[in-house]
Amino acid sequence: MAIEHDIKDPSLADGGRYKIEWAGKEMPVLKLIRERFAKERPLDGLRLSACLHVTAETANLAHTLQAGGADIVLTASNPLSTQDDVAASLVAHYEIPVYAIKGEDDATYYDHIKAAIAHKPHITMDDGADLVSTLHKEYTDLLPHVIGGTEETTTGVIRLRAMAKEGALKFPVIAINDSMTKHLFDNRYGTGQSTLDGIIRATNILIAGRTVVVAGYGWCSRGIAMRAEGHGANVIVTEVDALKALEAVMDGYRVMPMAEAAPLGDIFVTATGDINVIDTHHMEAMKDGAIICNSGHFNVEINLKGLREMSRSEPELIRPFVERYVLKNGKTVHLLGEGRLVNLAAAEGHPASVMDMSFANQALGAEYMRDNAGTLEDQVYTIPEELDMEIARLKLAAMGISIDTLTTEQETYLNQWQEGT
Ligand SMILES: NC(=O)c1ccc[n+]([C@@H]2O[C@H](COP(=O)([O-])OP(=O)(O)OC[C@H]3O[C@@H](n4cnc5c(N)ncnc54)[C@H](O)[C@@H]3O)[C@@H](O)[C@H]2O)c1
Repeated sequence: MAIEHDIKDPSLADGGRYKIEWAGKEMPVLKLIRERFAKERPLDGLRLSACLHVTAETANLAHTLQAGGADIVLTASNPLSTQDDVAASLVAHYEIPVYAIKGEDDATYYDHIKAAIAHKPHITMDDGADLVSTLHKEYTDLLPHVIGGTEETTTGVIRLRAMAKEGALKFPVIAINDSMTKHLFDNRYGTGQSTLDGIIRATNILIAGRTVVVAGYGWCSRGIAMRAEGHGANVIVTEVDALKALEAVMDGYRVMPMAEAAPLGDIFVTATGDINVIDTHHMEAMKDGAIICNSGHFNVEINLKGLREMSRSEPELIRPFVERYVLKNGKTVHLLGEGRLVNLAAAEGHPASVMDMSFANQALGAEYMRDNAGTLEDQVYTIPEELDMEIARLKLAAMGISIDTLTTEQETYLNQWQEGT
């Protein structure tokens, strides 16, 4: 039977299959879950609509959910993050309906989300909450069928908590991002490495000796600062949170407001989840030839409308994912990946090894939703700590690393209060 889909080019499928298998080798925890799911079929009879970056790692998650019995459809969670060969392979080799084309316009992006909603999901899986918010805004008749959802990223969790606070959320959602085995690794090491990868692939510039301004010192941005420093950059951090700013100072970075950093930076990266973090007056003050990009979820962190208005003419695409804007003040600014997540637009997103843990959380999150259907409130939950710890244990075991176990004496000692000096 033909699988419904909207993808770029079915002939890319074989290349996509190699990519999916390559990523799969780095995802041992997800593989263990897939093997158990294939035996136990915990998701049998459930329709699942997933709105995630369509990458080789996501393909391994989709395959795992399918092995667990889920009837899954996949749509993109960003217009620029789709790997077209992976999308083609999912349709051809895994019989998973995919609606995603790299570079699709905003209207197509939402048409694809609506195609995933037309699947009438029992479980939603989101990265940024566009699927859940569209469902709540335009398809209220389908809400009673949904037993719950999962959410991958910080920005999505913030949106869902805002919905829950207003009483607008109509089913329970698990904040996958809040698992330790997600944000401590994916956001930090994954975004750190892949953001540098995206900047380097797009520009091929030497990072050593450059001044890199990182906006934010949260989980993603501290990973970016760490990896930029590792390449030999001189890193400046900007923050609005005093504690995070203090950590950045103690970690050895220069910290200052963006207005002061603007004339000093060669490369600017935002990863805050906030709006207009690089604004027009910052771009006005930048050096000629400055490179700006974003690794936060939405393309709102750089004031793109302002950038267009302060430019002399339309931007020129001078390399893939590099647009040159000539400003009215005569200076040029280079924007990478249209201001969308540079690690997914210009590179391949996080390496599979780190997505292994994030997607182990997603798979167990879907199972947890099934197990607890009807008992949870319409709120945002985190995965139980035991599952989070179990993922960490499995990952260590897969890496061939063993650790000590508490002795009975130590357990007793750590649970008492009488014994002191
Ligand atoms: N590129 C990726 O693959 C990827 C992966 C994970 C998360 N994300 C996204 O990255 C963003 C950040 O996620 P996180 O987990 O690091 O969040 P976080 O909450 O840990 O960190 C965000 C930081 O930005 C700071 N901030 C907010 N406004 C600021 C401003 N105007 N100037 C400077 N700093 C400011 C906050 O104080 C906070 O410390 C979110 O949008 C998230 O969804 C992207």
